Amino acid sequence: MASNGYQPLAGMSDILPPEIRRWQQIEQVGRRILEAYGFDEIRTPILESTGLFERAIGDSTDVIEKEMYRFTDRGGRDISLRPEGTASVMRAVIAGGSDLADARLYYFGPMFRAERPQAGRKRQFHQLGAEAIGEPNPAADVECIALQRHILSAWGLEGFRVELNTRGEPDDGPAVAEGMRNALRPLLGELCDDCRTRYDKNVLRVLDCKNPGCKDVLASLPPVTAFMGEAARSYLDEVCDLLKLLDIEVTLNPRLVRGLDYYAHTVWEIVHDALGAQDALCGGGRYRFELGRRSVEGVGFAMGLERVLMVLASSSTPAAAPPRRVQVYIATQDPAAFRENLILAQALRVRGVNCSIEMRPRTLKKQMRAANLAGAEWVVIRGEQELEEGTFLLKNMAEGGQEALEMPALMERLLNAFSIR
Ligand code: HAM
Repeated sequence: MASNGYQPLAGMSDILPPEIRRWQQIEQVGRRILEAYGFDEIRTPILESTGLFERAIGDSTDVIEKEMYRFTDRGGRDISLRPEGTASVMRAVIAGGSDLADARLYYFGPMFRAERPQAGRKRQFHQLGAEAIGEPNPAADVECIALQRHILSAWGLEGFRVELNTRGEPDDGPAVAEGMRNALRPLLGELCDDCRTRYDKNVLRVLDCKNPGCKDVLASLPPVTAFMGEAARSYLDEVCDLLKLLDIEVTLNPRLVRGLDYYAHTVWEIVHDALGAQDALCGGGRYRFELGRRSVEGVGFAMGLERVLMVLASSSTPAAAPPRRVQVYIATQDPAAFRENLILAQALRVRGVNCSIEMRPRTLKKQMRAANLAGAEWVVIRGEQELEEGTFLLKNMAEGGQEALEMPALMERLLNAFSIR
């Protein structure tokens, strides 16, 4: 679609107030819970070398083949906007050496994939992601799933389901590919062109096909676990056992392989029916990644925040975005009082009081309406009389009472009201 110059690019959005308050609220709740599970925040660059994503995500995945925002920079380097966060975190962990060898890291931020935009699918979208580095115990996989459910519930989401599978040991890869090729060979004529290309290039990707005709055909395939060794199956059993211990219900989905190639062992998605075709709220799994002679192992997940907000908005009683709290609204009636009002507003803000000051010569009635709309708890008014007397009229919006005070007493009264010393 041609841009008129004022709209964001297709698949990208401005996030305006008051909607941004929902985002801030979600971040705040998310951070508190992530920290309770021992995760610390990491911020990595949005641009990375394309080679990092190719090596981590796999160069025959849709993300790398079709969806990268890829450029050559002025120095001739091949760089890309990040399509996800795990690759960058793995790079940062390798760069950080032993300090980050067992780190638990989380991130919030924009990701970029040049997909065809539709409901729940954007070209710039936001993820909350978390990665537990270095811990080989299946309990870490289970903790990640528990953590995600905890965050979703704290955000007010209900009705989501966890689907679980395994990608097996990295050594299982060739046997799984061979087994799936043999099982798919007689069905190839019934599959779409994309599936036939995937069959040759990266056979597991056939299982990701969203085409309803292909999905029906693929339902007859044996589970991928049928071609894996004992180690992969017993790892999965242990994960299932620990999930049971924590009373976490999951559905085993033998066709879930996830669209990124770094996974080894557990993979999962959390889905919600309110999302329609793009039904994944979150994706995660255990991975192993090699960069040069260094390797990183970890387990983690990412949650799509636009999709989370879509589900929340579709619920029968969507929570309203919390309003910005104005504690004190300073009305302006007399231009002569305005300079002192400015000083008062600044003094209150410096002490931590949320304050709005009227800058236009509107009628007092309009100003009081604005104060009400903003949810102000107190209004400071200065008419001719107050100006003459060197006082300020302080009005309590909830109780309706008012009193005339000089500047020091006014400050004390307001700071006391907000328990600020
Ligand atoms: P992913 O499944 O590609 O996994 O993305 C995670 C979530 O991001 C999805 O479940 C979805 O909610 C959201 N998402 C993905 N693409 C879009 C899009 N185009 N528009 C809106 N939302 C989208 C990862 O990114 C992995 N890094 C997760 C992970 C972390 N695995 C291990 N550690």
